[in-house]
Amino acid sequence: MRILLATSNPGKIKEIKEILEKYGFQIEVPDRKLKVEETGRTFLENAYLKAKAYYEEFGLPTLADDSGLEVKALNGYPGVYSSRFYSLKEIGGYEDPTPSEDKANLRKLLRLLEGVKDRSARFVACVVVYKGQGGLFAFGECKGTIAEEPAGEGGFGYDPVFIPEGYDRTMAQLSPEEKNAISHRGKALENLIRVLRY
Ligand code: IMP
Repeated sequence: MRILLATSNPGKIKEIKEILEKYGFQIEVPDRKLKVEETGRTFLENAYLKAKAYYEEFGLPTLADDSGLEVKALNGYPGVYSSRFYSLKEIGGYEDPTPSEDKANLRKLLRLLEGVKDRSARFVACVVVYKGQGGLFAFGECKGTIAEEPAGEGGFGYDPVFIPEGYDRTMAQLSPEEKNAISHRGKALENLIRVLRY
């Protein structure tokens, strides 16, 4: 089965290819990026919007994902706002995105968690395969806690402050192989395969 990936993020393409090709899927990558507004209120809605847009443009069964960080003490925020949390004025105020949006997101998260004891959190990913009029979806999660300060150079996004359950290092201090083995996206894909092959 041929599946188009609704992403142009090279890290995601590599991770998704590695997993799906093991199961005999032929992975196609789009030759151009579509601008899809992620207006959904859930990871599932956003993944669906992306998969549908690429399916309608390219005509192939399409896999899209959406992911983010949910922090218990913040009632699940940043959630679907993970990539633009710094700009969400109504939750914790605006944080200047210098030197980068990722760094501003981290600063804001640590500021909101100052003095907070229960720092439990989880990364969540939803993957959707859409093929006109219907589709399948699956979720994956990676549980952990938010560190007091950033550590590590690897990964991206919230990795420098996320300590996965069972580890004493942040996600940004793990090797790519270690991260892939426990990642929410990897687990969502494995769950999706189970649904696809059922
Ligand atoms: P998206 O799925 O590409 O829309 O990612 C949403 C946002 O969630 C990213 O910009 C990151 O801030 C955060 N995020 C998702 N997955 C990870 C991860 O594996 N590590 C760190 N941050 C992540």
